[in-house]
Amino acid sequence: MKGLFNLKSLTITQVNSILSLATKFKSGYSFSFSGKRIATLFFENSTRTKNSFLMAMLKLGIDYVDVNISTSSVNKGESLYDTVKTLESIGFDAVVIRHSIDKYYQELENINIPIINAGDGKSDHPTQSLLDLFTIYEEFGHFDGLNVTIIGDIAHSRVAHTNAEIMKRLGMNVFISGPDCFMDDTAPQISLDEALKNSDVVMLLRVQFERSAHLDISKEEYNKLYGLDIDKVNRMKNNAIIMHPAPVNRGIELTDEVVECEKSRMFKQMENGVYVRMAVIYKLLKEEL
Ligand code: CP
Repeated sequence: MKGLFNLKSLTITQVNSILSLATKFKSGYSFSFSGKRIATLFFENSTRTKNSFLMAMLKLGIDYVDVNISTSSVNKGESLYDTVKTLESIGFDAVVIRHSIDKYYQELENINIPIINAGDGKSDHPTQSLLDLFTIYEEFGHFDGLNVTIIGDIAHSRVAHTNAEIMKRLGMNVFISGPDCFMDDTAPQISLDEALKNSDVVMLLRVQFERSAHLDISKEEYNKLYGLDIDKVNRMKNNAIIMHPAPVNRGIELTDEVVECEKSRMFKQMENGVYVRMAVIYKLLKEEL
Protein backbone atom coordinates (compact mmCIF):
# COMPACT_ATOMS: atom_id res chain seq x y z
CA MET A 1 0.00 0.00 0.00
CA LYS A 2 1.45 3.37 -1.07
CA GLY A 3 0.70 6.73 0.47
CA LEU A 4 1.02 8.97 3.49
CA PHE A 5 -0.86 7.61 6.49
CA ASN A 6 1.00 9.05 9.49
CA LEU A 7 4.42 10.56 10.18
CA LYS A 8 5.63 7.66 12.37
CA SER A 9 6.39 5.72 9.21
CA LEU A 10 8.60 8.49 7.79
CA THR A 11 12.25 9.04 8.65
CA ILE A 12 13.43 12.47 9.77
CA THR A 13 15.22 12.74 6.41
CA GLN A 14 11.91 12.19 4.59
CA VAL A 15 10.10 14.75 6.79
CA ASN A 16 12.85 17.32 6.20
CA SER A 17 12.75 16.61 2.49
CA ILE A 18 8.98 17.36 2.36
CA LEU A 19 9.52 20.59 4.33
CA SER A 20 12.38 21.58 2.07
CA LEU A 21 10.27 21.05 -1.08
CA ALA A 22 7.39 23.00 0.54
CA THR A 23 9.83 25.87 1.16
CA LYS A 24 10.83 25.73 -2.50
CA PHE A 25 7.17 25.90 -3.60
CA LYS A 26 6.57 28.83 -1.22
CA SER A 27 9.59 30.62 -2.70
CA GLY A 28 8.02 30.49 -6.17
CA TYR A 29 9.17 27.18 -7.64
CA SER A 30 6.43 25.78 -9.86
CA PHE A 31 5.82 22.39 -11.40
CA SER A 32 2.92 21.24 -13.54
CA PHE A 33 1.88 17.61 -13.89
CA SER A 34 0.32 16.51 -17.14
CA GLY A 35 -2.66 14.13 -17.19
CA LYS A 36 -2.78 13.41 -13.45
CA ARG A 37 -6.12 13.09 -11.65
CA ILE A 38 -6.82 12.89 -7.91
CA ALA A 39 -10.09 12.21 -6.07
CA THR A 40 -10.91 13.56 -2.61
CA LEU A 41 -13.16 11.55 -0.29
CA PHE A 42 -14.16 13.44 2.84
CA PHE A 43 -16.38 11.39 5.17
CA GLU A 44 -16.02 14.15 7.80
CA ASN A 45 -16.49 17.88 7.38
CA SER A 46 -13.51 20.03 6.44
CA THR A 47 -12.82 23.55 5.26
CA ARG A 48 -9.04 23.93 5.53
CA THR A 49 -7.70 20.49 4.70
CA LYS A 50 -9.99 19.77 1.76
CA ASN A 51 -9.71 23.17 0.09
CA SER A 52 -6.00 23.37 0.77
CA PHE A 53 -5.53 19.99 -0.98
CA LEU A 54 -7.68 21.22 -3.87
CA MET A 55 -5.64 24.44 -4.12
CA ALA A 56 -2.41 22.41 -4.05
CA MET A 57 -3.74 20.30 -6.94
CA LEU A 58 -4.72 23.40 -8.92
CA LYS A 59 -1.24 24.83 -8.46
CA LEU A 60 0.30 21.53 -9.62
CA GLY A 61 -1.89 21.34 -12.74
CA ILE A 62 -3.74 18.27 -11.45
CA ASP A 63 -7.40 17.65 -12.32
CA TYR A 64 -9.46 16.68 -9.31
CA VAL A 65 -12.87 15.31 -8.45
CA ASP A 66 -14.24 16.01 -4.99
CA VAL A 67 -16.49 12.98 -4.48
CA ASN A 68 -19.83 13.89 -2.92
CA ILE A 69 -20.24 11.26 -0.21
CA SER A 70 -23.91 12.06 0.37
CA THR A 71 -24.85 11.17 -3.24
CA SER A 72 -22.39 8.28 -3.58
CA SER A 73 -23.05 4.56 -3.23
CA VAL A 74 -21.55 4.74 0.28
CA ASN A 75 -25.17 5.45 1.19
CA LYS A 76 -26.19 2.11 -0.32
CA GLY A 77 -23.75 0.41 2.03
CA GLU A 78 -20.73 0.20 -0.29
CA SER A 79 -17.54 -0.43 1.66
CA LEU A 80 -14.64 2.00 1.80
CA TYR A 81 -12.47 -0.56 0.00
CA ASP A 82 -14.97 -0.94 -2.88
CA THR A 83 -15.37 2.84 -3.13
CA VAL A 84 -11.61 3.43 -3.37
CA LYS A 85 -11.08 0.43 -5.69
CA THR A 86 -13.74 1.97 -7.97
CA LEU A 87 -11.86 5.28 -8.04
CA GLU A 88 -8.64 3.42 -8.85
CA SER A 89 -10.38 1.40 -11.60
CA ILE A 90 -11.83 4.44 -13.34
CA GLY A 91 -8.43 6.06 -13.58
CA PHE A 92 -7.56 8.24 -10.61
CA ASP A 93 -3.86 8.46 -9.78
CA ALA A 94 -4.30 9.03 -6.03
CA VAL A 95 -7.05 9.50 -3.42
CA VAL A 96 -7.15 11.91 -0.46
CA ILE A 97 -9.30 10.53 2.37
CA ARG A 98 -10.63 11.88 5.66
CA HIS A 99 -12.55 9.41 7.81
CA SER A 100 -13.86 9.24 11.37
CA ILE A 101 -12.56 5.67 11.85
CA ASP A 102 -9.07 5.35 13.34
CA LYS A 103 -6.68 3.72 10.82
CA TYR A 104 -9.43 3.30 8.19
CA TYR A 105 -6.61 2.79 5.67
CA GLN A 106 -5.82 -0.66 7.06
CA GLU A 107 -8.67 -2.02 4.92
CA LEU A 108 -7.11 -0.48 1.79
CA GLU A 109 -4.04 -2.70 1.70
CA ASN A 110 -4.81 -3.99 -1.81
CA ILE A 111 -5.23 -0.55 -3.36
CA ASN A 112 -2.40 0.23 -5.78
CA ILE A 113 -2.65 4.03 -6.06
CA PRO A 114 -1.33 6.33 -3.29
CA ILE A 115 -3.71 7.13 -0.43
CA ILE A 116 -3.16 10.45 1.36
CA ASN A 117 -4.59 10.52 4.87
CA ALA A 118 -6.38 13.82 5.49
CA GLY A 119 -7.21 12.80 9.06
CA ASP A 120 -8.36 9.50 10.61
CA GLY A 121 -10.48 9.57 13.77
CA LYS A 122 -8.32 10.58 16.71
CA SER A 123 -5.17 8.90 15.35
CA ASP A 124 -3.33 11.01 12.81
CA HIS A 125 -3.43 14.15 10.68
CA PRO A 126 -0.05 14.02 8.92
CA THR A 127 -0.40 17.01 6.59
CA GLN A 128 -1.61 19.20 9.49
CA SER A 129 1.53 18.27 11.43
CA LEU A 130 3.72 18.97 8.41
CA LEU A 131 2.23 22.44 8.04
CA ASP A 132 2.67 23.01 11.77
CA LEU A 133 6.34 21.99 11.52
CA PHE A 134 6.78 24.21 8.46
CA THR A 135 5.32 27.18 10.36
CA ILE A 136 7.49 26.55 13.43
CA TYR A 137 10.65 26.23 11.33
CA GLU A 138 9.78 29.39 9.41
CA GLU A 139 9.48 31.20 12.75
CA PHE A 140 12.49 29.89 14.67
CA GLY A 141 14.81 28.47 11.97
CA HIS A 142 15.28 25.25 13.96
CA PHE A 143 13.35 22.65 16.02
CA ASP A 144 15.89 21.41 18.55
CA GLY A 145 15.16 22.44 22.14
CA LEU A 146 11.95 24.37 21.45
CA ASN A 147 9.29 24.02 24.15
CA VAL A 148 5.86 23.25 22.73
CA THR A 149 2.74 22.98 24.88
CA ILE A 150 -0.41 21.56 23.33
CA ILE A 151 -3.42 22.79 25.28
CA GLY A 152 -6.88 21.26 25.22
CA ASP A 153 -8.57 18.08 24.16
CA ILE A 154 -5.47 15.94 23.68
CA ALA A 155 -7.26 12.60 24.08
CA HIS A 156 -9.54 13.17 21.08
CA SER A 157 -7.01 15.02 18.93
CA ARG A 158 -5.32 13.48 15.91
CA VAL A 159 -3.38 16.75 15.56
CA ALA A 160 -1.92 16.39 19.08
CA HIS A 161 -1.05 12.74 18.59
CA THR A 162 0.74 13.20 15.26
CA ASN A 163 2.48 16.39 16.37
CA ALA A 164 3.74 15.07 19.69
CA GLU A 165 5.37 12.03 18.08
CA ILE A 166 7.20 13.88 15.31
CA MET A 167 8.06 16.91 17.45
CA LYS A 168 9.79 14.72 20.02
CA ARG A 169 11.75 12.98 17.25
CA LEU A 170 12.82 16.40 15.96
CA GLY A 171 14.20 17.34 19.39
CA MET A 172 11.40 19.54 20.69
CA ASN A 173 10.22 19.35 24.31
CA VAL A 174 6.51 18.58 24.18
CA PHE A 175 4.06 19.15 27.05
CA ILE A 176 0.28 18.98 27.34
CA SER A 177 -2.11 21.05 29.43
CA GLY A 178 -5.85 21.03 30.04
CA PRO A 179 -8.54 19.49 32.20
CA ASP A 180 -7.88 15.91 33.35
CA CYS A 181 -10.78 14.58 31.24
CA PHE A 182 -8.86 15.65 28.09
CA MET A 183 -5.42 14.34 29.08
CA ASP A 184 -3.72 11.12 27.97
CA ASP A 185 -0.12 9.87 28.00
CA THR A 186 0.94 11.81 24.89
CA ALA A 187 3.43 13.97 26.86
CA PRO A 188 4.03 15.27 30.44
CA GLN A 189 1.19 17.43 31.76
CA ILE A 190 1.92 20.97 33.01
CA SER A 191 -0.24 23.80 34.34
CA LEU A 192 -1.43 26.62 32.11
CA ASP A 193 0.79 29.04 34.09
CA GLU A 194 3.89 26.95 33.31
CA ALA A 195 2.81 26.67 29.68
CA LEU A 196 2.48 30.43 29.29
CA LYS A 197 5.78 31.11 31.03
CA ASN A 198 7.99 28.53 29.32
CA SER A 199 6.60 27.72 25.86
CA ASP A 200 8.00 28.88 22.55
CA VAL A 201 4.90 27.48 20.90
CA VAL A 202 1.49 27.44 22.55
CA MET A 203 -0.68 25.18 20.44
CA LEU A 204 -4.39 25.42 21.19
CA LEU A 205 -6.84 22.72 20.17
CA ARG A 206 -10.50 22.95 19.40
CA VAL A 207 -12.75 21.41 22.05
CA GLN A 208 -14.33 18.71 19.91
CA PHE A 209 -17.87 18.57 21.17
CA GLU A 210 -18.73 15.99 18.47
CA ARG A 211 -16.16 13.54 19.92
CA SER A 212 -16.54 14.35 23.64
CA ALA A 213 -19.80 12.89 24.86
CA HIS A 214 -18.87 12.93 28.56
CA LEU A 215 -17.24 16.28 29.28
CA ASP A 216 -16.94 17.02 32.99
CA ILE A 217 -16.21 20.70 32.44
CA SER A 218 -18.59 23.39 31.17
CA LYS A 219 -17.69 25.67 28.24
CA GLU A 220 -17.57 28.64 30.63
CA GLU A 221 -15.27 26.87 33.06
CA TYR A 222 -13.02 25.69 30.22
CA ASN A 223 -12.76 29.23 28.91
CA LYS A 224 -11.88 30.60 32.35
CA LEU A 225 -9.27 27.95 33.20
CA TYR A 226 -7.72 27.10 29.83
CA GLY A 227 -8.97 29.63 27.27
CA LEU A 228 -6.48 32.24 26.02
CA ASP A 229 -7.34 35.92 26.36
CA ILE A 230 -5.05 38.90 25.83
CA ASP A 231 -4.03 39.01 29.52
CA LYS A 232 -2.76 35.44 29.27
CA VAL A 233 -1.12 36.14 25.89
CA ASN A 234 0.80 39.00 27.56
CA ARG A 235 2.28 36.48 30.02
CA MET A 236 3.87 34.45 27.20
CA LYS A 237 7.56 34.74 26.24
CA ASN A 238 8.34 37.70 23.95
CA ASN A 239 9.05 35.65 20.84
CA ALA A 240 6.55 32.85 21.56
CA ILE A 241 3.82 32.09 19.05
CA ILE A 242 0.25 30.80 19.24
CA MET A 243 -0.91 28.09 16.88
CA HIS A 244 -4.30 26.41 16.38
CA PRO A 245 -5.24 23.91 13.64
CA ALA A 246 -8.71 25.51 13.45
CA PRO A 247 -11.64 25.66 13.16
CA VAL A 248 -11.66 27.66 16.40
CA ASN A 249 -14.38 27.89 19.01
CA ARG A 250 -14.28 31.64 19.65
CA GLY A 251 -15.05 32.31 23.31
CA ILE A 252 -14.07 28.80 24.42
CA GLU A 253 -10.39 27.99 23.76
CA LEU A 254 -9.61 31.59 22.83
CA THR A 255 -11.18 35.03 22.66
CA ASP A 256 -11.82 36.95 19.44
CA GLU A 257 -8.86 39.28 19.89
CA VAL A 258 -6.41 36.36 20.26
CA VAL A 259 -7.34 34.88 16.86
CA GLU A 260 -5.49 37.60 14.92
CA CYS A 261 -3.21 38.98 17.64
CA GLU A 262 0.46 39.65 16.91
CA LYS A 263 1.54 36.25 18.29
CA SER A 264 -1.05 34.26 16.38
CA ARG A 265 0.13 32.21 13.41
CA MET A 266 -3.25 30.59 12.67
CA PHE A 267 -3.69 32.05 9.20
CA LYS A 268 -0.01 31.55 8.40
CA GLN A 269 -0.57 27.85 9.19
CA MET A 270 -3.41 27.73 6.65
CA GLU A 271 -1.27 29.50 4.02
CA ASN A 272 1.59 27.05 4.61
CA GLY A 273 -0.77 24.08 4.35
CA VAL A 274 -1.02 24.55 0.59
CA TYR A 275 2.77 24.29 0.13
CA VAL A 276 3.24 21.19 2.28
CA ARG A 277 0.34 19.49 0.50
CA MET A 278 1.90 20.37 -2.86
CA ALA A 279 5.12 18.77 -1.62
CA VAL A 280 3.36 15.61 -0.41
CA ILE A 281 1.38 15.19 -3.65
CA TYR A 282 4.49 15.87 -5.76
CA LYS A 283 6.55 13.29 -3.90
CA LEU A 284 3.87 10.60 -4.00
CA LEU A 285 3.13 11.05 -7.71
CA LYS A 286 6.87 11.05 -8.48
CA GLU A 287 7.31 7.97 -6.27
CA GLU A 288 9.83 9.78 -4.07
CA LEU A 289 7.95 8.89 -0.85
N1 CP B 1 -7.29 21.86 10.63
C1 CP B 1 -8.21 21.13 9.97
O1 CP B 1 -8.07 19.92 9.77
O2 CP B 1 -9.31 21.86 9.58
P1 CP B 1 -10.52 21.29 8.75
O3 CP B 1 -11.26 20.32 9.64
O4 CP B 1 -11.36 22.49 8.37
O5 CP B 1 -9.96 20.58 7.57
